[in-house]
Amino acid sequence: MLTQSSGGVAALPDHLPAPVDNPPDVPAAPELDLGHHGDVEAVPGLVDLAVNVRQASMPDWLADPITAALGDLARYPDSAAARAAVAARHGREPAQVLLTAGAAEGFVLIAQALRGIRRPVVVHPQFTEPEAALRAAGHRVERVLLDPGDGFRLDPAKVPVDADLVLIGNPTNPTSVLHPAADLAALARPGRVLVVDEAFADTTLAPGVAGEPESLAVRSDLPGLLVVRSLTKTWGLAGLRVGYLLGAAELLDRLAAVQPLWPVSTPALAAATACAGPEAVRAERQIAADLAADRDHLLARLAPLPGVRVVGRPASAFVLIHHPGADAVRRALRERGWAVRRGDTFPGLGPDWLRIAVRDPATTDAFTTVLAEILEG
Ligand SMILES: Cc1ncc(COP(=O)(O)O)c(C=O)c1O
Repeated sequence: MLTQSSGGVAALPDHLPAPVDNPPDVPAAPELDLGHHGDVEAVPGLVDLAVNVRQASMPDWLADPITAALGDLARYPDSAAARAAVAARHGREPAQVLLTAGAAEGFVLIAQALRGIRRPVVVHPQFTEPEAALRAAGHRVERVLLDPGDGFRLDPAKVPVDADLVLIGNPTNPTSVLHPAADLAALARPGRVLVVDEAFADTTLAPGVAGEPESLAVRSDLPGLLVVRSLTKTWGLAGLRVGYLLGAAELLDRLAAVQPLWPVSTPALAAATACAGPEAVRAERQIAADLAADRDHLLARLAPLPGVRVVGRPASAFVLIHHPGADAVRRALRERGWAVRRGDTFPGLGPDWLRIAVRDPATTDAFTTVLAEILEG
């Protein structure tokens, strides 16, 4: 029987335990809104520089298999082909791939499956969902805060030696910093699960390097490594929900054990297969090169603006800026039709930070003209 609470909201049936804000023995909710994401800021009517999903029409090699999969929806999804394709792309065995409904599901699986973890550490500033998923599962999360004065460079000495789960992004959202693969690899050790969120790895490039410069995706030799990948950013598939985890088969088996049945739909599996093919990988490299040029253009436009500081060397599809009173600037931008991502919900940042998506030069020019007027006005 459902009961009615005093606020008029239907309460839980009597035989179920009352919901708890925090599981027992877990610190109170974090002071920041870890569930805040850029999509909330990019409301219709505003130009969206808040969400880091590429805005381009889908190539035929991707659209065609997704569309064809719509004719096959009566069958339950079969992930075997997509798993094999993703494994081949990263030089791994299919058993070292777990397909997920976006990278976001990967964080939940890690948090839910690895209940025995005693000292989970999240390296911030970074995407807040991994910490939110850990907290929701009842873990006591410790934060390691990287220093803006040091360009948010990873200082491995800050990670407690007995941390048995370490979570870091590479390149990191929102700082756009790309950590050296060797520094991350040095964090892996027996008895620790090292989670590297590579949701934006496909946006990175380096001179003379054919592939993604600092990715650990191929490193099946590192103990406890879990690489989280997303296909929603570069390929504009945020609404389709598709990503995957790479890691040792035994570790992935534990995560798969808490995964719902058929979590990735047939069209999403078709997308995963297509995005693992050679055509996709070639296209990704070109997109990363174009993005680098667009990012340089944005950085050049930001450089002369009064009080605006870019920390470190941005390497991904977004740029983090510091400006005293940036949050007021963000609100003024909204009034002029532009949405950028607030920085104050990220641990280690605050109201003086904003994240700006890299867009085409014309959009960047229009945006920085308005930004200059606000800052100089
Ligand atoms: C760094 C990072 N990791 C993971 C995700 C989640 O991606 P997905 O859409 O694949 O769940 C996001 C989304 O914004 C992100 O910024």
